[in-house]
Amino acid sequence: MSKIKSISTVTGHIYDVPDNNDEDRLISFVNSNNNKKIVAIQGLGFVGTAMSLVVANSDKNEYAVLGVDQANKESYWKIAEINSGICPIVSSDPLLYEFFESTRQKENFYATHDPKAFSYADVIIVDINLDVTKIKDNSGNLDSFDVPMTGFKKAIELIGQECKKDVLILIETTVPPGTCQKVVYPIIVENLRSRGLETDKFKLGHSYERVMPGPNYMNSIKNFYRVYSGINNKSANSVEKFLKTVISTDEYPLTRLKTTESTEMAKVLENSYRAMNISFAIEWSRFAESSGVDLYEVVDAIRLRPTHANLMYPGIGVGGYCLTKDPLMASWASEKFFGLKSGLQSSVKAVENNDKMPSYCFNFVNNIIQNFDKKLTRIGLLGVAYGPGIGDTRFSPVEDFYNRISMQFEDIKCQDPYVSLWPELNLKIETSLESFLNRIFDVLIVTTGHRDYLKNNSIYELISKVDQEMIIIDTVGLLDLKKLPKHYSQNKNFYVLGVGHKKD
Ligand SMILES: NC(=O)c1ccc[n+]([C@@H]2O[C@H](COP(=O)([O-])OP(=O)(O)OC[C@H]3O[C@@H](n4cnc5c(N)ncnc54)[C@H](O)[C@@H]3O)[C@@H](O)[C@H]2O)c1
Repeated sequence: MSKIKSISTVTGHIYDVPDNNDEDRLISFVNSNNNKKIVAIQGLGFVGTAMSLVVANSDKNEYAVLGVDQANKESYWKIAEINSGICPIVSSDPLLYEFFESTRQKENFYATHDPKAFSYADVIIVDINLDVTKIKDNSGNLDSFDVPMTGFKKAIELIGQECKKDVLILIETTVPPGTCQKVVYPIIVENLRSRGLETDKFKLGHSYERVMPGPNYMNSIKNFYRVYSGINNKSANSVEKFLKTVISTDEYPLTRLKTTESTEMAKVLENSYRAMNISFAIEWSRFAESSGVDLYEVVDAIRLRPTHANLMYPGIGVGGYCLTKDPLMASWASEKFFGLKSGLQSSVKAVENNDKMPSYCFNFVNNIIQNFDKKLTRIGLLGVAYGPGIGDTRFSPVEDFYNRISMQFEDIKCQDPYVSLWPELNLKIETSLESFLNRIFDVLIVTTGHRDYLKNNSIYELISKVDQEMIIIDTVGLLDLKKLPKHYSQNKNFYVLGVGHKKD
C-alpha cells in the first residue's frame, strides 16, 4: 500500500491510495454480471458519476457499469466511497441518491482505478476533465490561455491499450472542436495497430452532456434533449442505438449532427452564448446601481417579451467548471486546429468580463460596509458553491470574493447546506443555517442563491430571531424585502447587487 492519502470532500474520510492493480475484483464483478453488457465510464466526477448512475439504472437495457478514475490524492476517495456505499456527490436532487441505492441493490456499479476495466467494456464513455489554463495581469485582464492536452491524450491512450477492437467509444468530455478526429481517432488507431488488432472495427462518437448538477441533476441526463455524432455513419448509428437505451428519447428525441466537429462546436457555442449573455448583464448592473434603478424589476419587465425571455439578472459572478473555460476552448481550437488568426474575440472577452464579476461585487459590498455609520467587522457568507442547489465549489465566484473580503476583514464565517469542506480553500463550512445564524454578525452576505434558504420561509424566520443590529447584502437577488423583519429597508440596512439607490 502506498503512503498517499486521499481525503473525501464529502465525508472527510481519509483513504489509502492503492498502488497495486484491481484485477481480482474486476474479474469477480464482470463474472457476476456476465449476462449484462459492460459500460466503462472514465472519470467519476460530477458528470461521470451521474452518467454511471443513469446507465446502471437504464430501464431499457441491463448494464453493468465500471467507473474508472485515478489512484491519486485528489480523486481516489470517489472510488473508495462508491464501493463502500457512499455517494461521492452532494446534491439537492433526491433521484441521485435513489439511483445510487438501486445500483447497490443490483450490484451493477463498481468503481476502480485499474485501466484493465476497459478490456471488458462493450461501450466506453469518456467523462474526464480537460482544463483551460489562464494567465492574468494584476487587473484581472486575460494575458493568455492554453488547453494543455497531455492528460487527455494519456487518458485516451489508456483506453487504446486495453479496449476491444469493436468497442464503442463515446466522448462526452467538453473538447476543443476537432479533437475526436485530430486527437482521439489517431491515438486509438495507433494503439490497436500496435496490439496487432484490426483498426476499422471500433466506433467513435461524440455526444456532449448538458448535465445540471442542481435539483434536476439526474433528469438533466435521462430526460433531456441530446445532440450526437460519429466519425462515420457506423459510429453515429452505434451512438444512437446506445443513447436510446439510456435516455428517454421518445419524449426527448435525439439530434444527429453531420460530423464530430459539429457536436464539439455545438457544446462550446452553447456555453459561449450563455457566458456572453451573463457578461452583458454586468455593465447594466453598474449602470442600474449608479442611476438608482432596480435591474431585477427592469429584467422581469423585459423577460415578458418571448424573444428576450433569457435576459440575465445581475449576480456575484459566473462559476462552475464549464462557462469559465468553454469559450476559451472554442477560441483555442479555432486557432490551433483550424488556423483562424484572431480566435473568437467576443467570446474570450465575455470570459474575461465574467471573471471580474466577484471583484465588482466585492467593491459594491466594501463600499457599503466602509460607508456605514458604524464599524462593521463580523461577516457571514451564505453559500460558497458556484450555483444554487449544488455542492460544487470549482471556480465558484464566491472564492474570489472570499479572498478579497478576507484581506479586508478578519472575522469571516461561511455557511452552505451542500458543502462541509471547501476544498479549494481547505475551509470547514457550517451546513446548518440555524446554527450559523445563532452567531453574531454585523453583515450577512447572500453569496449563493440556494433555494433551501427559502424553504418554509426558514431564512426569514431565523433572521427575525436575530436580536442584534445586522445589515444584509444580497449579491444574487434571492431575498424578498417584504418578507424580512419590518426594520429592514432598501439601501438602509438591506442592499441588493444590481439595485440602485435613488437619492430622495
Ligand atoms: N460539471 C458540469 O456541470 C458539466 C456539465 C456538462 C459538461 N461537463 C463536462 O464534462 C467533463 C467532466 O466534467 P466534471 O464536472 O465531471 O469534471 P470533474 O473534475 O468533476 O471530474 C473529472 C474526473 O475525471 C477524472 N480523470 C481525469 N483523468 C483521468 C484518467 N486518465 N482516468 C480516469 N479518470 C480521470 C478526474 O480524477 C475526475 O474525478 C468536462 O469536460 C466538463 O466540461 C461538465
